[in-house]
Amino acid sequence: MSKKLITLFVSGMLLLSLGLAGCGGQQKNAALRVGTEPSFAPFEFQDEKSKDFVGFDMDLIRAIAKQMGTEVQVQSMGFDALIPALEAKSIDAVISGMTINEERAKKVKFSKPYYKSGLAIIVKNDNKTINSFKDLEGKNIAVQIGTSGAEEAKKIKDAKTREFNTPPEAFMELKAGGVDAVINDKPVNDYFIKQAGGQDTKQVGEPLTSEDYGIAVAGSNAELAAKIDKALDELKKNGEYDKIYEKWFGPAKK
Ligand code: ARG
Repeated sequence: MSKKLITLFVSGMLLLSLGLAGCGGQQKNAALRVGTEPSFAPFEFQDEKSKDFVGFDMDLIRAIAKQMGTEVQVQSMGFDALIPALEAKSIDAVISGMTINEERAKKVKFSKPYYKSGLAIIVKNDNKTINSFKDLEGKNIAVQIGTSGAEEAKKIKDAKTREFNTPPEAFMELKAGGVDAVINDKPVNDYFIKQAGGQDTKQVGEPLTSEDYGIAVAGSNAELAAKIDKALDELKKNGEYDKIYEKWFGPAKK
């Protein structure tokens, strides 16, 4: 054998043994790969300083994972990319203020509801003409793409809907006067208005819908959904859920 061949052979064996050693490590639960669209404060957003993903959903999913004996690895993506990512198995679960509805339930499996929400209308402070849902007829409305708000806006007679990648972009367009109203989840609107000190925008009318948020997993992954439900139950029982709730929303209205 030539010298060259021998070195090749030896280094090959070395690589192989290294590879095998890598597999032999003690079995650890693989991290839960969680997808989210993190422009949805106070549910999921990026902390400006630490760049960590924070919010109610982030705390909740980390607590759920801990209960399951694992950790969370967050993957950020567009809201309309979340369900396709579950279907493609590139993530295990979605927590993203995602409303449980029939259309989505055909494709994914939802956990039990974990938060009660609903859509609401937000307009500029000086708007005097839009006071309720029916006042939106013929108006320009901004929404986040792929959301229940986008679906709701499509039902309004003669309204022109513009879809943005994130709610903050829709809010910005409203402030700039490019649209008359935004339809978006009420707790997110509340947080946005509060952060801005009520400077430019306000909410009007009754909530348009009542919606439940759920954690989604692939349709074929009933086992993971059951584990998540079990963990949720435990967190509700041991007071951890309430702690997380109060951290982001204040004392729960009971
Ligand atoms: N609840 C709405 C829906 O499910 C909006 C959710 C948007 N979430 C987000 N993280 N941007 O359609």
